[in-house]
Amino acid sequence: MQELRKFVAPEFVFGEGAISLIGRYAVNFGARKPLIVTDPGVLAAGHANAVVKLLEAEGLPSAVFSGVQANPRDFQVADGARFYAENGCDLIIAVGGGSPMDCAKAIGIVCTNSREAASFEGIDNVPVPGPPLICVPTTAGTSADVSQFAILNNVSQRRKFAIISKTMVPDVALIDPATTVTMPRYLTACTGVDALVHAIEATVSTASSRITDLHALEAIRIIRETLPSVIDDPENLDLRASMMFASMEAGLAFSNASLGAVHAMAHSIGGYFDFPHGECNAILLEHVVGYNFGAAPDRYRLVARQLGIATDGLSDDGLASALVADLRVFRESLGIRARFATSGITPEEIRALAQKAIIDPCMITNPRTPTQRELEELYARVL
Ligand SMILES: [Fe+2]
Repeated sequence: MQELRKFVAPEFVFGEGAISLIGRYAVNFGARKPLIVTDPGVLAAGHANAVVKLLEAEGLPSAVFSGVQANPRDFQVADGARFYAENGCDLIIAVGGGSPMDCAKAIGIVCTNSREAASFEGIDNVPVPGPPLICVPTTAGTSADVSQFAILNNVSQRRKFAIISKTMVPDVALIDPATTVTMPRYLTACTGVDALVHAIEATVSTASSRITDLHALEAIRIIRETLPSVIDDPENLDLRASMMFASMEAGLAFSNASLGAVHAMAHSIGGYFDFPHGECNAILLEHVVGYNFGAAPDRYRLVARQLGIATDGLSDDGLASALVADLRVFRESLGIRARFATSGITPEEIRALAQKAIIDPCMITNPRTPTQRELEELYARVL
């Protein structure tokens, strides 16, 4: 018998031109002055200004907060919340990748609860939802626009923390693949692998279900087929749309099945060294799959099939080797390095990284429960 499972998803509009609906949605929420949360790169690409113009066309003034950087900081949430109040805003629109979207989610609940972001850490710790939130993703990977997760960086402790709550699900996601055409090559590769890791970790998660499998398995197949092509042909809108669709499916899967050791370890190392999230995942993936495989061989067999690996007749051991090798070759083909550039890291630092990873909420649903020592050994392979 299937265990009880729930599935949470926002209203979303997917397709070329979805962004043009932003004004109508803002008006329908009764907004008088939206706050637009974005970052300098997205601002330079013109996406935030496009939203400003679309809102103006509906008679809505807006205020733009672009003080967000990759791996968004807790103090940037506080800055954004102050900016929201000072400008008398009543709705939030996130335009960008995971960093502006996660920051925007946290700004909303900081405003309505009058508490700092760190106080919401964990699962279901948000008493009052934020104001209406519309997300316009401009990368194909993070899928914060459909997820219950917000990941922020606690700067003083050099660690990432997760806010996981139904209140983190945006009210609407306007998912327009045309916005991703401006992504540089390496960002395309890293965000694409982030989406692949979402789908793989959702598949092998101890909280997976038939409904999350449906999305996760298709996402794995599409990303494996499409990501190398989109890197070679970045302006091909059909390929960009396929990646955006797969990323959305991976997001729907992981938002409900949660993740695993790749993300737990990536959060720890990303928070400490400020490395890009997708790159952290890409480097860790093959090692975690090798470590996890024996705990969920049948689930990894499904993953391998979706990656196009000929699984028939392969023993579990043979399949584990083939899968790890395939993921390594895939990472190399995307131009993503094998190890982190961390010269001079000490054993104490590796111990601290493992300590943070072991208590990350994503570790809860990993198919194998690691020891501190095992995580230190996994980190040592990539540091
Ligand atoms: Fe991720």
